[in-house]
Amino acid sequence: MGKLNSATSTEIERRQFIKWVSLSSLSLALPLTSCNFGGSTKVDLPIDLSNLKNVYDFERLSMKVMGEDALLYLNGGADDLKTVKLNSEAYQEIQIRARRLIDVTNVSTEVNLLGQTLDNPIIMCPVGFQKFFHPDGEIGSAKASVKKKHQMIVSSVSNYSVNEIAEQSQAKLWFQLYPTVDRKVTKKLLERAETAGCKVCVLTVDSPVLGNRERGGTTLTKLMGDKILKMGNYEGIMPEGTTFDDAGMTWDIIAWLRENCDMKIVLKGIVTREDAALCVKHNVDGVIVSNHGGRQLESLRSTIDCLPEVVEEIDGKIPVLIDGGIRRGTDVFKALALGATAVCVGRPYCWGLGALGQQGVEMVLDILKAELIRDMQLAGTASIEKITKEHVLIN
Ligand SMILES: Cc1cc2nc3c(=O)[nH]c(=O)nc-3n(C[C@H](O)[C@H](O)[C@H](O)COP(=O)(O)O)c2cc1C
Repeated sequence: MGKLNSATSTEIERRQFIKWVSLSSLSLALPLTSCNFGGSTKVDLPIDLSNLKNVYDFERLSMKVMGEDALLYLNGGADDLKTVKLNSEAYQEIQIRARRLIDVTNVSTEVNLLGQTLDNPIIMCPVGFQKFFHPDGEIGSAKASVKKKHQMIVSSVSNYSVNEIAEQSQAKLWFQLYPTVDRKVTKKLLERAETAGCKVCVLTVDSPVLGNRERGGTTLTKLMGDKILKMGNYEGIMPEGTTFDDAGMTWDIIAWLRENCDMKIVLKGIVTREDAALCVKHNVDGVIVSNHGGRQLESLRSTIDCLPEVVEEIDGKIPVLIDGGIRRGTDVFKALALGATAVCVGRPYCWGLGALGQQGVEMVLDILKAELIRDMQLAGTASIEKITKEHVLIN
């Protein structure tokens, strides 16, 4: 970016960020009037919460509360949104093979993952800029994660800093990393994450450049420009000329991360057996099969279609997680049956956040877990390890 002689370094930093945002996934913005900063509009109050029975009900409610541009940002994707749609639709090609006469009075959803015992295998994806959706932002999501016992991954580009989120929520967070070109900045981000207590660093590897998002306005740019929203983790550490994505990043980054932090390293965005093999070779601690919710490269396969080859290649050496298009307990069940250790959800909990703030996130998490438990009972699987590939059939 060209130097602006008349600007102060803070001003330059701010303009650099604004430029990045306006080109990025984050630029599918919302008008000030329609974001929850300004309060909501098209919804009859009080809302009858008992009508909110599944995550799609939250999607519909969020549409009324958040306004069109906010939803363009949250629900948007690359090019013609083919991969966004495919992620969900591909689950319809998989049928469940239920077993009978098995005692499912008590069901355990516990999983062991990266040295932790999790109450359940439904993890909250890193999603940036959550104060767009509701003033509770990432702190609301993190408080919900603690109350409902779900692991949450905080985005590098959260509005609240990872330290603020950890402090206010007491959550044991994982930290998602966009490394930036300037490794001094990366190191400071890692330090901030470790100070906040994060034990896992989720490195996003599907974004050497930003995907092509064609819809959205300029309001996010305006919100950032007016300093109504900030990017907590980068406050005070972004020198002039730094960019957030790093098109030059290669497998060398793994060794660099090992030298510069003590967190476990999980790679998010793996979609092929070749890269799965390289993950094992480079001793990463886990992978997330992900296509960024269809927001980066268009015409990728659905993630559930990518999962089997990654699982086969990794062959139990490290955990394999998956995200993208998971909307029902049956989707979680199918992913686990095809070899995922755990799943991550993105948009669904943000629909909850946008609709009702922290309470909406709690309700979405409750719904997904209740659906999973019921589905496990109906399929004759009393624990997560009992869910095997014999329980599914792919068309
Ligand atoms: C609004 C939005 C913002 C996102 N921000 C990030 C981010 O900051 N870092 C990241 O690695 N992935 C980000 N993602 C991708 C998610 O982590 C995840 O891969 C995707 O949302 C999963 O698909 P789903 O929304 O269908 O569940 C974002 C996704 C959305 C929808």
